[in-house]
Amino acid sequence: MSRVTTTPRDSAFVRACRGLPVPHTPVWFMRQAGRSLPEYRKIREGIGMLDSCRRPDLVTEITLQPVRRHGVDAAILFSDIVVPLAAAGVDLDIVPGTGPVISAPLRSRAGLAQLDGPGDVGFVAEAVRLLLAELGPTPLIGFAGAPFTLASYLIEGGPSRTYLRTKAMMYGEPDLWHDLCARLAEITLAFLKVQAAAGVSAVQLFDSWAGALSEADYRRFVLPHSASVLAGLAEFDIPRIHFGVGTSVLLGAMGEAAADVVGVDWRTPLTRATELIGPDRAVQGNLDPAVLFAPWEAIEVEALRVLAEGRSAPGHVFNLGHGVLPETDPGKLTRLVDLIHRS
Ligand code: CP3
Repeated sequence: MSRVTTTPRDSAFVRACRGLPVPHTPVWFMRQAGRSLPEYRKIREGIGMLDSCRRPDLVTEITLQPVRRHGVDAAILFSDIVVPLAAAGVDLDIVPGTGPVISAPLRSRAGLAQLDGPGDVGFVAEAVRLLLAELGPTPLIGFAGAPFTLASYLIEGGPSRTYLRTKAMMYGEPDLWHDLCARLAEITLAFLKVQAAAGVSAVQLFDSWAGALSEADYRRFVLPHSASVLAGLAEFDIPRIHFGVGTSVLLGAMGEAAADVVGVDWRTPLTRATELIGPDRAVQGNLDPAVLFAPWEAIEVEALRVLAEGRSAPGHVFNLGHGVLPETDPGKLTRLVDLIHRS
């Protein structure tokens, strides 16, 4: 697993996040642990998603699987963005093929009572400790969902294409919206602090669905809450990655929210993203996950283009523009890691 580094802090991944010189461009994949791997499908047989996230032994094994198989430059803790919501008292399930489903969607002020407080996530600290002992010099990334994306699941009750109810609350009951997001920011920050205190080397805040908003609405309704989460981690001195999908118009604002690295999806070239984000932040991304279904020659052309465009930023962490799709051939991911390391 180890490359030329001796500690996670000196790793190519952490150095690239900080815009420092690196021996090779580091690479990891969002959703690298998951259904694309036969060993993952096997270990998950008969065990629910939420239950597996609460078992440190399983979390450790699943987190290590893609590191062993692909030789990626970072591990990401196996968990889900709704794990802290479940710990806070929200009745929910993660339904295969659908995603998080909330029993009683939050549509009024009374619904805020579902969110008792951060709740006990000691199992996450235990998993991080087990992982650090196994990973050696390979850095471990902790993560959480950002207030907007979490609020969208809570309000809609599940995945949504239009975010109608979420936006109706945002525009119609702005006080309730801000109170909800402030509560979610507290829960998210507490969850990330548990991971940071246990020793993760970086954190990623997933605001996957923020791309549904205009820049003006993002700045007014979302940015202050995400910024309070990221700023609240400053004391740990670890890189903070801020990611969303379809965020071309939001990239500058997402960088301003106390992020060290901005994650970019495949729609915006990294050269353009760097102009929008500014010269003092690194970028992460952004190969279209669907490109992995093309023949290798096409994958190579696209990957080298992303790599070249990433050189416009002070630091570049190679990744996909969103998560690995479950049908992806894992052999192509391994080959991609090798290509990035050699190029
Ligand atoms: O990246 C990793 O390898 C770490 C694991 C990880 C999971 N979820 C595991 C998971 C991470 C970082 C997440 C974050 C997450 N969860 C996000 C943000 C990232 C993104 O994709 O934008 C979101 C929006 C969720 C909510 C969620 N949970 C969805 C949309 C799904 C997929 C539903 C499905 O079955 O297609 C989940 C379930 C989930 N989370 C799975 C995994 C591996 C699949 C569950 C399974 O294997 O049965």
